[in-house]
Amino acid sequence: MNNDIERVLYSREDIHQVAQKLGKELTTAYAGKNPLIICVLKGAVLFTTDIIREMDIYADLDFINLSSYGNETISSGEVQLTKDLDADVTGRDVLVIEDIIDTGRTLKFLIDLLKRRDVNSVKVCTLLDKPAGRLVDIKADYIGFEVPNEFVVGYGLDYAERYRNLPYVGILKPAIYEHK
Ligand code: IMP
Ligand code: MG
Repeated sequence: MNNDIERVLYSREDIHQVAQKLGKELTTAYAGKNPLIICVLKGAVLFTTDIIREMDIYADLDFINLSSYGNETISSGEVQLTKDLDADVTGRDVLVIEDIIDTGRTLKFLIDLLKRRDVNSVKVCTLLDKPAGRLVDIKADYIGFEVPNEFVVGYGLDYAERYRNLPYVGILKPAIYEHK
């Protein structure tokens, strides 16, 4: 699997450091608020488990699955809710954890959904932000790294469901797409 990677963008250590830094900021921001942390499946699983260990506060954890990518590297444009939350979000302070914001459509869909369900507040923490890909006007409140406009994998992010278990974020060799 590691042989499929052309270049490492963020090492395990880079990501650990950024999780520590953001975790500290979130500890301060959410002290006494008992937030509901929402992990967006499946991509944000690794980042969520790292960042919540850096947050010294009481918080609830829930999961939602939204999907817009088929097995392609370009967004289909349509967001689907494939697994809903268990929690009632009414009146809650919600912190969404994402793996990457590209077009912004997934996040816009989720934020609109949460607002319709009358959350008290919603903020977003993303490991990666790809501003060059943006098609809707949406911003994260906490960002790990800004990535170039390339398709990245690893640390939760997949290509055709593979590479999520890479311990770093990297760029695939072009041959991997070509031999599909
Ligand atoms: P958006 O709706 O275009 O912002 O896309 C967000 C979702 O698309 C993320 O949660 C990822 O699952 C996926 N995605 C976007 N860019 C990449 C990438 O470079 N590699 C892997 N998945 C990506
Ligand atoms: Mg994906």
